[in-house]
Amino acid sequence: MGHVLGDDVEQKLETEKATGKKDVIIITRRSFFGALVAIGSAGMGALLAVPVLRYVLYPLYARAAGTEWSDVGEMSEFANGQSPVRKTITFTQRDGWREVVSAQSVYVSRTSAGEMEVMSAICPHLGCSVSWQQAQNDFLCPCHGSVFKADGKVVAGPSPRAMDRLPTRIKDGKLQVHFEYFRPNVPNQEKLT
Ligand code: FES
Repeated sequence: MGHVLGDDVEQKLETEKATGKKDVIIITRRSFFGALVAIGSAGMGALLAVPVLRYVLYPLYARAAGTEWSDVGEMSEFANGQSPVRKTITFTQRDGWREVVSAQSVYVSRTSAGEMEVMSAICPHLGCSVSWQQAQNDFLCPCHGSVFKADGKVVAGPSPRAMDRLPTRIKDGKLQVHFEYFRPNVPNQEKLT
């Protein structure tokens, strides 16, 4: 094996061995550069860890910030409000790192007090799609026969609750909705996260 230390250092060590002096720290050029490289590597590692951590934690903060409003239509479209109006809305869902654009049907209707409301077309029983029956003046679910009034109240069938009402707002003359999914077949509207 070749010499690792320089001649002057080896000579110094020999002298220390002969005189019994031990507590001497020798910093060679090689160990100095070794320390520099170690510090540099640690710094680079820390810098690289930041984007990696952001990537790993992205779904957590993306989900927390994931409030999205979808356009339903111009307010003027719903001015007369005689019957519920079916609309298809789109919104972006995040599943981990994937972003998926989804479409869902909603109904714009009126409460008995004349207030505008937007309801999900997903049946609260087991998730089929309800449809408005103009002749009967009711919503009907084709799967197990639940029947709902124009304001969403359940009047027949196995659905344990009224049609699910969604948060709305008006922005720049447009009706917007925040689409949400709810737990099926339970008496109260429980939001699924
Ligand atoms: S899914 Fe609508 S009544 Fe069952």
